[in-house]
Amino acid sequence: MYSVPKLGDYSQESLEKAFAELRAAFDAEAQAPLDEAGWKAFRDRWLGRKSGILTQINEQWLKAAPAEAKREVGRRLNDLRAAIEAGVESARGGASAAAGASGERVDVTLPGIRRPLGAEHPVLRTMNEIVAVFRAMGYSVGEGPEIETDYYNFEALNFPPNHPARDSQDTLFVAGQEAKPPRERLLLRTHTSPMQIRVMEKQPPPVRIVVPGKVYRHDTPDASHSPLFHQVEGFAVDTNITFSDLKGTLDHAMKALFGSSVKTRFSPSFFPFTEPSADVAITCFKCNGKGRIGETPCRVCKQSGWIELLGSGMVDPAVFGFVKANGYDPEKISGFAFGMGVDRIAMIKYEIDDISLLFQGDVRFLEQFA
Ligand code: DAH
Repeated sequence: MYSVPKLGDYSQESLEKAFAELRAAFDAEAQAPLDEAGWKAFRDRWLGRKSGILTQINEQWLKAAPAEAKREVGRRLNDLRAAIEAGVESARGGASAAAGASGERVDVTLPGIRRPLGAEHPVLRTMNEIVAVFRAMGYSVGEGPEIETDYYNFEALNFPPNHPARDSQDTLFVAGQEAKPPRERLLLRTHTSPMQIRVMEKQPPPVRIVVPGKVYRHDTPDASHSPLFHQVEGFAVDTNITFSDLKGTLDHAMKALFGSSVKTRFSPSFFPFTEPSADVAITCFKCNGKGRIGETPCRVCKQSGWIELLGSGMVDPAVFGFVKANGYDPEKISGFAFGMGVDRIAMIKYEIDDISLLFQGDVRFLEQFA
């Protein structure tokens, strides 16, 4: 530890000499190049509160000074302090610049920083795949409003007001619609089927169209339910469209989506807007319809060998009744329709066991599909 010498003589010349020596010592030290640790030691040596040199001068020179010299010693000490503080501060710049210069050296041979690239969300990818299959068969693609009227979502699809078939679609209604006539009241569409009506109102037959989009239901979320999910609606209307056309079209589409070895099964069902109606299942693409893989029960089809995928049917003549004026005379034309849940298909395809994973936006989940 450095100790300042005793000052026996407080004459001007003696003070001048003592302060000048300190200043020279400081300047010499401040010249030397310092790294970060060296600079800290340098700072503490001069400015340290307990035993730094300035503190020592204060204690031993100023406090011990005879009354008539106090003023002069104080002035010189203040000047010295200002010079030392400035010198220490500027030496710091040098120390961190030195550190920076060595830290910032660029190695131009290192690879660049890879920017994370977005990827198609598994739901959108599945939706695009479904749409592409139908596009290749000559279908056009349309989209419709997610906020619908009661008329398009229900009434024109042959769900009469207060009909119990409406119970199957847990509907989210827009509030404050009571003043409107029932069919104009707004709701979040529960399926993409309302687009059947909107398209037929706009264009006379023939029609072949698929409609991808979001739909909403008042469902409590769990591993297989989400209040928002996605559907692709499809329908074809023309002269002489038969149930065989429906079967052939969907059989081809399922093979295109899940592999040419899958088989389709049509079983009787009910939808208000189709007659007859059919649920469509495919043989499990994982276990080839066997229900097990070797000895292990198949998780994808829960051992049944079949996967229920979509609803379908022949357009009910009552539905054509709502658009008859636009050329849809049920005596002259016929059509089929189908609707599939995209999220469910994505989950089956990619073996995702919880639908909420599709909507959490967790990059660790999504990057598996990049
Ligand atoms: N809209 C039905 C639903 O969400 C699905 C559906 C069934 C659509 C049969 C159709 C169809 O076009 O023909 O439950």
